[in-house]
Amino acid sequence: MDNLAQLLKESWTLVEEQRDKVAGYFYARMFLTDPGLRTLFPVQMDGQRDRLLEAIVTAVQTIDDPENFDDYLRSLGRDHRKYHVRAEHYDTMGAALMEALRQSVGEQWTVEYDQAWRDAYQAIAERMQAGAAVDPNPPFWHAEVLSHERRGPDIAVLTCRPLQHPLPYRSGQYVSVEAPRYQPRLWRTYSIANAPREDNALEFHVRAVGAGWVSSALVRRVKVGDLLRVAAPMGSMTLDPGSTRDVLCVASGVGLAPIKALAEELAGHNRTRWMHVFVGAAARDDLYGLTELYQLAAEHPWLSIIPACSADPGFAGEQGEIAEVFARYGPWTTHDCYVSGSASLVRSALRTLAADDVPPENIRYDAFGEL
Ligand SMILES: Cc1cc2nc3c(=O)[nH]c(=O)nc-3n(C[C@H](O)[C@H](O)[C@H](O)COP(=O)(O)OP(=O)(O)OC[C@H]3O[C@@H](n4cnc5c(N)ncnc54)[C@H](O)[C@@H]3O)c2cc1C
Ligand code: HEM
Repeated sequence: MDNLAQLLKESWTLVEEQRDKVAGYFYARMFLTDPGLRTLFPVQMDGQRDRLLEAIVTAVQTIDDPENFDDYLRSLGRDHRKYHVRAEHYDTMGAALMEALRQSVGEQWTVEYDQAWRDAYQAIAERMQAGAAVDPNPPFWHAEVLSHERRGPDIAVLTCRPLQHPLPYRSGQYVSVEAPRYQPRLWRTYSIANAPREDNALEFHVRAVGAGWVSSALVRRVKVGDLLRVAAPMGSMTLDPGSTRDVLCVASGVGLAPIKALAEELAGHNRTRWMHVFVGAAARDDLYGLTELYQLAAEHPWLSIIPACSADPGFAGEQGEIAEVFARYGPWTTHDCYVSGSASLVRSALRTLAADDVPPENIRYDAFGEL
Protein backbone atom coordinates (compact mmCIF):
# COMPACT_ATOMS: atom_id res chain seq x y z
CA MET A 1 0.00 0.00 0.00
CA ASP A 2 2.91 2.35 0.73
CA ASN A 3 4.24 2.18 -2.78
CA LEU A 4 0.77 2.65 -4.19
CA ALA A 5 0.17 5.70 -2.00
CA GLN A 6 3.52 7.14 -3.10
CA LEU A 7 2.72 6.70 -6.79
CA LEU A 8 -0.72 8.25 -6.34
CA LYS A 9 0.73 11.27 -4.57
CA GLU A 10 3.42 11.75 -7.20
CA SER A 11 0.99 11.53 -10.09
CA TRP A 12 -1.54 13.78 -8.35
CA THR A 13 0.39 16.95 -9.25
CA LEU A 14 0.09 16.04 -12.91
CA VAL A 15 -3.63 15.38 -12.55
CA GLU A 16 -4.24 18.60 -10.65
CA GLU A 17 -2.59 20.70 -13.35
CA GLN A 18 -5.05 19.26 -15.88
CA ARG A 19 -8.13 19.17 -13.68
CA ASP A 20 -10.60 20.83 -16.04
CA LYS A 21 -9.41 18.78 -18.94
CA VAL A 22 -9.69 15.55 -16.95
CA ALA A 23 -13.23 16.45 -15.84
CA GLY A 24 -14.40 17.34 -19.34
CA TYR A 25 -12.92 14.23 -20.88
CA PHE A 26 -14.15 11.99 -18.08
CA TYR A 27 -17.84 12.87 -18.48
CA ALA A 28 -17.69 12.92 -22.27
CA ARG A 29 -16.11 9.45 -22.34
CA MET A 30 -18.53 8.05 -19.77
CA PHE A 31 -21.68 9.31 -21.49
CA LEU A 32 -20.40 8.24 -24.90
CA THR A 33 -19.75 4.71 -23.67
CA ASP A 34 -23.15 4.44 -22.01
CA PRO A 35 -25.54 7.28 -22.92
CA GLY A 36 -28.09 5.90 -20.43
CA LEU A 37 -25.82 7.03 -17.60
CA ARG A 38 -26.58 10.68 -18.37
CA THR A 39 -30.08 10.20 -16.94
CA LEU A 40 -28.62 9.43 -13.51
CA PHE A 41 -27.14 12.91 -13.23
CA PRO A 42 -28.89 16.24 -12.68
CA VAL A 43 -29.91 18.27 -15.71
CA GLN A 44 -27.57 21.06 -14.57
CA MET A 45 -24.11 19.62 -14.10
CA ASP A 46 -22.01 22.72 -13.37
CA GLY A 47 -21.25 21.90 -9.73
CA GLN A 48 -21.28 18.17 -10.31
CA ARG A 49 -18.46 18.33 -12.81
CA ASP A 50 -15.98 19.05 -10.06
CA ARG A 51 -17.77 17.35 -7.17
CA LEU A 52 -17.82 13.78 -8.40
CA LEU A 53 -14.34 13.81 -9.86
CA GLU A 54 -13.04 15.50 -6.73
CA ALA A 55 -14.72 12.82 -4.63
CA ILE A 56 -13.15 10.03 -6.61
CA VAL A 57 -9.76 11.69 -6.43
CA THR A 58 -10.11 12.27 -2.66
CA ALA A 59 -11.02 8.62 -2.20
CA VAL A 60 -8.04 7.56 -4.27
CA GLN A 61 -5.76 9.76 -2.17
CA THR A 62 -7.05 8.36 1.14
CA ILE A 63 -6.38 4.79 0.11
CA ASP A 64 -3.44 4.62 2.53
CA ASP A 65 -5.80 5.21 5.49
CA PRO A 66 -7.58 1.83 5.47
CA GLU A 67 -9.84 2.32 8.48
CA ASN A 68 -11.45 5.58 7.39
CA PHE A 69 -11.32 4.50 3.82
CA ASP A 70 -13.36 1.37 4.41
CA ASP A 71 -16.20 2.89 6.46
CA TYR A 72 -16.48 5.97 4.29
CA LEU A 73 -16.60 4.01 1.05
CA ARG A 74 -19.06 1.41 2.24
CA SER A 75 -21.51 4.09 3.32
CA LEU A 76 -20.89 6.05 0.10
CA GLY A 77 -21.71 2.90 -1.87
CA ARG A 78 -24.91 2.38 0.12
CA ASP A 79 -25.81 6.01 -0.43
CA HIS A 80 -25.21 5.74 -4.20
CA ARG A 81 -28.17 3.40 -4.53
CA LYS A 82 -30.40 6.47 -4.35
CA TYR A 83 -28.81 7.66 -7.62
CA HIS A 84 -29.83 4.34 -9.26
CA VAL A 85 -26.16 3.39 -9.56
CA ARG A 86 -25.69 -0.33 -10.31
CA ALA A 87 -22.60 -2.53 -9.95
CA GLU A 88 -21.83 -2.53 -13.70
CA HIS A 89 -21.68 1.28 -13.79
CA TYR A 90 -18.47 1.23 -11.77
CA ASP A 91 -16.55 -0.41 -14.63
CA THR A 92 -17.79 2.12 -17.17
CA MET A 93 -16.85 4.97 -14.87
CA GLY A 94 -13.45 3.46 -14.06
CA ALA A 95 -12.62 3.04 -17.74
CA ALA A 96 -13.69 6.65 -18.43
CA LEU A 97 -11.51 7.91 -15.57
CA MET A 98 -8.43 6.03 -16.80
CA GLU A 99 -8.95 7.21 -20.35
CA ALA A 100 -9.37 10.80 -19.15
CA LEU A 101 -6.14 10.63 -17.13
CA ARG A 102 -4.11 9.20 -20.00
CA GLN A 103 -5.45 11.68 -22.54
CA SER A 104 -5.19 14.76 -20.33
CA VAL A 105 -1.77 14.21 -18.78
CA GLY A 106 -0.17 12.90 -21.97
CA GLU A 107 3.39 11.64 -22.12
CA GLN A 108 4.18 12.15 -18.46
CA TRP A 109 1.58 9.54 -17.52
CA THR A 110 3.69 6.44 -16.84
CA VAL A 111 2.74 2.77 -16.81
CA GLU A 112 3.30 2.76 -13.02
CA TYR A 113 0.92 5.67 -12.46
CA ASP A 114 -1.64 4.00 -14.67
CA GLN A 115 -1.45 0.77 -12.69
CA ALA A 116 -1.63 2.63 -9.34
CA TRP A 117 -4.80 4.54 -10.29
CA ARG A 118 -6.41 1.43 -11.72
CA ASP A 119 -5.67 -0.52 -8.52
CA ALA A 120 -6.91 2.32 -6.33
CA TYR A 121 -10.12 2.80 -8.32
CA GLN A 122 -10.73 -0.95 -8.27
CA ALA A 123 -10.32 -1.08 -4.48
CA ILE A 124 -12.70 1.87 -4.05
CA ALA A 125 -15.32 0.46 -6.39
CA GLU A 126 -15.20 -2.91 -4.62
CA ARG A 127 -15.75 -1.31 -1.21
CA MET A 128 -18.64 0.81 -2.49
CA GLN A 129 -20.29 -2.15 -4.19
CA ALA A 130 -19.83 -4.30 -1.08
CA GLY A 131 -21.51 -1.59 1.03
CA ALA A 132 -24.39 -1.34 -1.45
CA ALA A 133 -24.84 -5.12 -1.65
CA VAL A 134 -25.44 -5.64 2.08
CA ASP A 135 -27.63 -2.59 2.69
CA PRO A 136 -30.91 -3.81 4.19
CA ASN A 137 -32.67 -0.50 3.41
CA PRO A 138 -34.41 0.44 0.18
CA PRO A 139 -32.40 2.93 -1.96
CA PHE A 140 -34.86 5.59 -0.81
CA TRP A 141 -38.30 6.01 0.71
CA HIS A 142 -41.19 7.76 -1.06
CA ALA A 143 -42.64 10.19 1.45
CA GLU A 144 -45.87 12.15 1.14
CA VAL A 145 -45.88 15.76 2.31
CA LEU A 146 -48.43 16.06 5.13
CA SER A 147 -48.03 19.72 6.06
CA HIS A 148 -46.14 22.73 4.79
CA GLU A 149 -45.98 25.93 6.75
CA ARG A 150 -44.06 29.09 5.87
CA ARG A 151 -42.30 30.73 8.82
CA GLY A 152 -41.19 33.99 7.30
CA PRO A 153 -39.99 34.71 3.78
CA ASP A 154 -37.19 32.12 3.63
CA ILE A 155 -38.12 29.35 6.03
CA ALA A 156 -40.59 26.48 5.82
CA VAL A 157 -41.41 23.79 8.34
CA LEU A 158 -42.73 20.72 6.58
CA THR A 159 -43.67 17.21 7.56
CA CYS A 160 -43.84 14.09 5.45
CA ARG A 161 -44.47 10.40 6.01
CA PRO A 162 -42.68 7.50 4.28
CA LEU A 163 -45.24 5.48 2.32
CA GLN A 164 -43.90 1.93 2.22
CA HIS A 165 -42.62 1.41 5.74
CA PRO A 166 -41.05 3.47 8.54
CA LEU A 167 -37.64 5.03 8.09
CA PRO A 168 -35.59 4.06 11.15
CA TYR A 169 -33.36 6.86 12.46
CA ARG A 170 -31.97 8.36 15.66
CA SER A 171 -32.74 11.85 16.92
CA GLY A 172 -30.14 14.30 15.61
CA GLN A 173 -29.54 12.49 12.30
CA TYR A 174 -30.05 13.86 8.80
CA VAL A 175 -31.23 12.42 5.48
CA SER A 176 -30.80 13.17 1.79
CA VAL A 177 -33.95 14.55 0.21
CA GLU A 178 -35.02 14.87 -3.43
CA ALA A 179 -38.09 16.80 -4.62
CA PRO A 180 -38.50 14.89 -7.91
CA ARG A 181 -41.45 16.93 -9.15
CA TYR A 182 -39.50 20.19 -9.03
CA GLN A 183 -35.76 19.37 -9.02
CA PRO A 184 -35.30 15.81 -10.26
CA ARG A 185 -32.03 14.05 -9.40
CA LEU A 186 -30.83 16.77 -7.07
CA TRP A 187 -30.31 15.46 -3.55
CA ARG A 188 -29.47 17.62 -0.52
CA THR A 189 -29.17 16.74 3.15
CA TYR A 190 -31.69 17.99 5.74
CA SER A 191 -31.79 17.29 9.46
CA ILE A 192 -34.83 15.56 10.87
CA ALA A 193 -36.37 17.99 13.36
CA ASN A 194 -38.33 15.52 15.49
CA ALA A 195 -37.56 12.47 17.59
CA PRO A 196 -38.94 9.21 16.07
CA ARG A 197 -42.73 9.20 16.46
CA GLU A 198 -45.37 6.52 16.39
CA ASP A 199 -46.96 7.96 13.25
CA ASN A 200 -43.50 7.82 11.54
CA ALA A 201 -43.77 11.42 10.32
CA LEU A 202 -40.56 13.36 9.65
CA GLU A 203 -40.32 17.10 10.20
CA PHE A 204 -37.87 19.32 8.29
CA HIS A 205 -36.92 22.96 8.75
CA VAL A 206 -35.66 24.38 5.48
CA ARG A 207 -34.17 27.78 4.75
CA ALA A 208 -34.14 28.84 1.08
CA VAL A 209 -30.60 29.98 0.32
CA GLY A 210 -30.06 32.51 -2.48
CA ALA A 211 -30.31 30.73 -5.86
CA GLY A 212 -30.43 27.38 -4.06
CA TRP A 213 -32.04 24.72 -6.24
CA VAL A 214 -33.44 22.29 -3.70
CA SER A 215 -34.02 24.56 -0.71
CA SER A 216 -36.02 27.03 -2.86
CA ALA A 217 -38.18 24.20 -4.14
CA LEU A 218 -38.79 22.86 -0.63
CA VAL A 219 -39.67 26.29 0.76
CA ARG A 220 -41.53 27.90 -2.15
CA ARG A 221 -42.95 25.17 -4.36
CA VAL A 222 -43.59 21.94 -2.48
CA LYS A 223 -47.24 21.41 -1.49
CA VAL A 224 -49.21 19.08 0.73
CA GLY A 225 -49.69 15.79 -1.16
CA ASP A 226 -46.41 16.05 -3.13
CA LEU A 227 -44.07 13.09 -2.99
CA LEU A 228 -40.49 13.54 -1.84
CA ARG A 229 -37.77 10.93 -1.85
CA VAL A 230 -35.82 10.46 1.35
CA ALA A 231 -32.67 8.32 1.63
CA ALA A 232 -31.27 6.42 4.61
CA PRO A 233 -30.30 8.42 7.70
CA MET A 234 -26.73 9.51 8.36
CA GLY A 235 -24.83 11.46 10.96
CA SER A 236 -23.55 11.07 14.49
CA MET A 237 -25.07 14.08 16.23
CA THR A 238 -26.99 11.68 18.43
CA LEU A 239 -27.28 11.30 22.20
CA ASP A 240 -24.75 9.05 23.89
CA PRO A 241 -27.04 6.50 25.59
CA GLY A 242 -24.52 5.84 28.38
CA SER A 243 -23.87 9.48 29.26
CA THR A 244 -25.11 11.16 32.43
CA ARG A 245 -23.49 14.52 31.60
CA ASP A 246 -25.53 17.69 31.22
CA VAL A 247 -26.14 18.84 27.67
CA LEU A 248 -25.22 22.03 25.83
CA CYS A 249 -26.82 22.71 22.44
CA VAL A 250 -25.91 25.62 20.19
CA ALA A 251 -27.80 26.36 16.98
CA SER A 252 -28.07 29.11 14.44
CA GLY A 253 -31.03 29.47 12.07
CA VAL A 254 -32.45 26.16 10.87
CA GLY A 255 -29.60 24.46 12.72
CA LEU A 256 -32.28 24.32 15.39
CA ALA A 257 -33.84 21.31 13.61
CA PRO A 258 -31.65 18.47 14.98
CA ILE A 259 -31.44 20.20 18.38
CA LYS A 260 -35.22 20.15 18.64
CA ALA A 261 -35.12 16.42 17.87
CA LEU A 262 -32.57 15.90 20.66
CA ALA A 263 -34.70 17.88 23.13
CA GLU A 264 -37.77 15.80 22.21
CA GLU A 265 -35.75 12.61 22.64
CA LEU A 266 -34.56 13.61 26.11
CA ALA A 267 -38.09 14.68 27.02
CA GLY A 268 -39.09 11.01 26.64
CA HIS A 269 -36.95 9.76 29.52
CA ASN A 270 -34.75 12.41 31.12
CA ARG A 271 -35.08 13.33 34.80
CA THR A 272 -31.54 14.17 35.82
CA ARG A 273 -29.64 16.03 33.09
CA TRP A 274 -29.79 19.78 32.51
CA MET A 275 -30.09 20.80 28.87
CA HIS A 276 -29.21 24.34 27.79
CA VAL A 277 -30.22 25.33 24.26
CA PHE A 278 -28.72 28.51 22.78
CA VAL A 279 -30.41 29.67 19.57
CA GLY A 280 -28.96 32.48 17.48
CA ALA A 281 -30.29 34.60 14.64
CA ALA A 282 -29.66 38.04 13.21
CA ALA A 283 -33.06 39.49 14.18
CA ARG A 284 -36.05 38.30 16.22
CA ASP A 285 -38.10 37.53 13.08
CA ASP A 286 -35.51 34.89 12.17
CA LEU A 287 -36.04 33.05 15.47
CA TYR A 288 -38.66 30.92 13.80
CA GLY A 289 -39.01 27.80 15.97
CA LEU A 290 -39.07 28.91 19.57
CA THR A 291 -42.75 28.35 20.37
CA GLU A 292 -42.42 24.55 20.29
CA LEU A 293 -39.24 24.67 22.34
CA TYR A 294 -40.72 26.99 24.97
CA GLN A 295 -43.66 24.62 25.25
CA LEU A 296 -41.29 21.71 25.84
CA ALA A 297 -39.34 23.77 28.39
CA ALA A 298 -42.59 24.61 30.22
CA GLU A 299 -43.23 20.89 30.67
CA HIS A 300 -39.62 19.97 31.52
CA PRO A 301 -37.81 22.12 34.10
CA TRP A 302 -34.39 20.66 33.14
CA LEU A 303 -34.63 22.36 29.73
CA SER A 304 -33.69 26.02 29.27
CA ILE A 305 -33.85 28.01 26.04
CA ILE A 306 -31.66 31.06 25.51
CA PRO A 307 -32.29 32.94 22.27
CA ALA A 308 -29.93 35.70 21.08
CA CYS A 309 -29.92 38.24 18.26
CA SER A 310 -26.78 39.61 16.67
CA ALA A 311 -28.30 42.56 14.80
CA ASP A 312 -31.50 43.55 16.57
CA PRO A 313 -30.73 46.06 19.35
CA GLY A 314 -34.42 46.17 20.37
CA PHE A 315 -34.55 42.42 21.11
CA ALA A 316 -35.24 41.86 24.79
CA GLY A 317 -33.11 38.70 25.15
CA GLU A 318 -29.35 38.17 24.78
CA GLN A 319 -27.42 40.34 22.35
CA GLY A 320 -24.52 39.16 20.20
CA GLU A 321 -23.32 36.29 18.04
CA ILE A 322 -24.57 33.06 19.58
CA ALA A 323 -21.05 31.66 20.01
CA GLU A 324 -20.11 34.69 22.13
CA VAL A 325 -23.32 34.41 24.10
CA PHE A 326 -22.97 30.78 25.13
CA ALA A 327 -19.29 31.38 25.95
CA ARG A 328 -20.44 33.91 28.59
CA TYR A 329 -22.48 31.17 30.32
CA GLY A 330 -19.55 28.68 30.39
CA PRO A 331 -17.37 26.89 31.12
CA TRP A 332 -18.84 23.80 29.43
CA THR A 333 -16.02 21.44 30.25
CA THR A 334 -18.17 18.63 31.69
CA HIS A 335 -21.06 18.81 29.20
CA ASP A 336 -22.01 16.80 26.14
CA CYS A 337 -21.98 19.51 23.46
CA TYR A 338 -23.98 19.67 20.22
CA VAL A 339 -23.51 22.38 17.61
CA SER A 340 -25.56 22.78 14.46
CA GLY A 341 -25.94 25.46 11.80
CA SER A 342 -23.81 27.58 9.51
CA ALA A 343 -20.14 26.78 9.03
CA SER A 344 -19.14 30.07 10.69
CA LEU A 345 -21.19 29.24 13.80
CA VAL A 346 -19.67 25.77 13.99
CA ARG A 347 -16.13 27.15 13.63
CA SER A 348 -16.53 29.74 16.37
CA ALA A 349 -18.40 27.36 18.70
CA LEU A 350 -15.67 24.75 18.33
CA ARG A 351 -13.08 27.39 19.23
CA THR A 352 -14.98 28.29 22.41
CA LEU A 353 -15.38 24.63 23.39
CA ALA A 354 -11.68 24.00 22.78
CA ALA A 355 -10.84 26.97 25.02
CA ASP A 356 -13.04 25.36 27.72
CA ASP A 357 -11.06 22.11 27.33
CA VAL A 358 -14.15 20.12 26.40
CA PRO A 359 -12.87 16.66 25.39
CA PRO A 360 -13.36 16.29 21.59
CA GLU A 361 -15.27 13.03 22.09
CA ASN A 362 -17.96 14.98 23.97
CA ILE A 363 -18.56 17.35 21.03
CA ARG A 364 -20.78 16.53 18.08
CA TYR A 365 -21.64 18.94 15.30
CA ASP A 366 -23.16 19.32 11.85
CA ALA A 367 -22.15 22.23 9.64
CA PHE A 368 -24.77 23.11 7.05
CA GLY A 369 -22.09 24.38 4.64
CA GLU A 370 -18.42 23.71 3.88
CA LEU A 371 -16.36 24.00 7.05
C1 LIG B 1 -25.44 17.62 7.65
C2 LIG B 1 -26.26 18.71 7.00
C3 LIG B 1 -27.53 18.98 7.47
C4 LIG B 1 -28.27 20.01 6.89
N1 LIG B 1 -29.51 20.28 7.39
C5 LIG B 1 -30.22 21.30 6.88
C6 LIG B 1 -31.51 21.64 7.42
O1 LIG B 1 -32.02 21.00 8.33
N2 LIG B 1 -32.17 22.69 6.87
C7 LIG B 1 -31.64 23.42 5.82
O2 LIG B 1 -32.31 24.36 5.37
N3 LIG B 1 -30.44 23.12 5.30
C8 LIG B 1 -29.72 22.07 5.78
N4 LIG B 1 -28.51 21.76 5.22
C9 LIG B 1 -28.06 22.47 4.00
C10 LIG B 1 -28.66 21.78 2.75
O3 LIG B 1 -28.13 20.48 2.63
C11 LIG B 1 -28.36 22.51 1.44
O4 LIG B 1 -26.97 22.70 1.34
C12 LIG B 1 -29.05 23.84 1.33
O5 LIG B 1 -30.45 23.66 1.46
C13 LIG B 1 -28.75 24.48 -0.03
O6 LIG B 1 -29.12 23.61 -1.07
P1 LIG B 1 -29.66 24.17 -2.45
O7 LIG B 1 -29.83 23.05 -3.42
O8 LIG B 1 -30.85 25.01 -2.22
O9 LIG B 1 -28.48 25.13 -2.89
P2 LIG B 1 -27.40 24.86 -4.02
O10 LIG B 1 -28.10 24.87 -5.32
O11 LIG B 1 -26.61 23.66 -3.64
O12 LIG B 1 -26.49 26.13 -3.86
C14 LIG B 1 -26.86 27.36 -4.48
C15 LIG B 1 -25.98 28.49 -4.03
O13 LIG B 1 -26.20 28.75 -2.65
C16 LIG B 1 -24.98 28.64 -1.92
N5 LIG B 1 -25.28 27.96 -0.66
C17 LIG B 1 -25.46 26.63 -0.46
N6 LIG B 1 -25.75 26.37 0.83
C18 LIG B 1 -25.76 27.56 1.47
C19 LIG B 1 -26.02 27.95 2.80
N7 LIG B 1 -26.31 27.05 3.77
N8 LIG B 1 -25.96 29.27 3.09
C20 LIG B 1 -25.66 30.18 2.14
N9 LIG B 1 -25.42 29.87 0.85
C21 LIG B 1 -25.46 28.59 0.52
C22 LIG B 1 -24.07 27.79 -2.77
O14 LIG B 1 -22.72 28.12 -2.55
C23 LIG B 1 -24.50 28.17 -4.17
O15 LIG B 1 -23.85 29.33 -4.59
C24 LIG B 1 -27.75 20.75 5.81
C25 LIG B 1 -26.48 20.45 5.32
C26 LIG B 1 -25.74 19.45 5.91
C27 LIG B 1 -24.35 19.16 5.38
C1 HEM C 1 -15.01 5.44 -7.24
C2 HEM C 1 -16.29 5.51 -7.33
C3 HEM C 1 -17.14 6.68 -6.91
C4 HEM C 1 -16.93 7.63 -5.93
C5 HEM C 1 -15.74 7.77 -4.99
C6 HEM C 1 -18.08 8.51 -5.95
C7 HEM C 1 -18.27 9.59 -5.10
C8 HEM C 1 -19.33 10.48 -5.13
C9 HEM C 1 -19.58 11.54 -4.18
C10 HEM C 1 -18.75 11.82 -2.94
C11 HEM C 1 -20.67 12.20 -4.59
C12 HEM C 1 -21.27 13.47 -3.91
C13 HEM C 1 -22.56 13.23 -3.29
C14 HEM C 1 -22.62 12.15 -2.25
O1 HEM C 1 -21.92 12.25 -1.23
O2 HEM C 1 -23.43 11.20 -2.40
C15 HEM C 1 -21.17 11.53 -5.76
C16 HEM C 1 -22.30 11.88 -6.42
C17 HEM C 1 -22.81 11.17 -7.49
N1 HEM C 1 -22.30 10.03 -8.04
FE1 HEM C 1 -20.66 9.03 -7.45
N2 HEM C 1 -18.95 8.09 -6.92
C18 HEM C 1 -18.42 6.97 -7.52
C19 HEM C 1 -18.98 6.21 -8.51
C20 HEM C 1 -20.14 6.54 -9.16
C21 HEM C 1 -20.70 5.78 -10.24
C22 HEM C 1 -20.12 4.49 -10.83
C23 HEM C 1 -21.83 6.46 -10.65
C24 HEM C 1 -22.76 6.12 -11.78
C25 HEM C 1 -22.39 6.14 -13.00
C26 HEM C 1 -21.96 7.62 -9.80
C27 HEM C 1 -22.98 8.55 -9.87
C28 HEM C 1 -23.13 9.63 -9.06
C29 HEM C 1 -24.24 10.57 -9.15
C30 HEM C 1 -25.41 10.49 -10.14
C31 HEM C 1 -24.04 11.54 -8.17
C32 HEM C 1 -24.95 12.75 -7.84
C33 HEM C 1 -24.63 13.89 -8.67
C34 HEM C 1 -25.23 15.21 -8.16
O3 HEM C 1 -26.03 15.25 -7.23
O4 HEM C 1 -24.85 16.24 -8.71
N3 HEM C 1 -20.93 7.64 -8.91
N4 HEM C 1 -20.33 10.49 -6.07
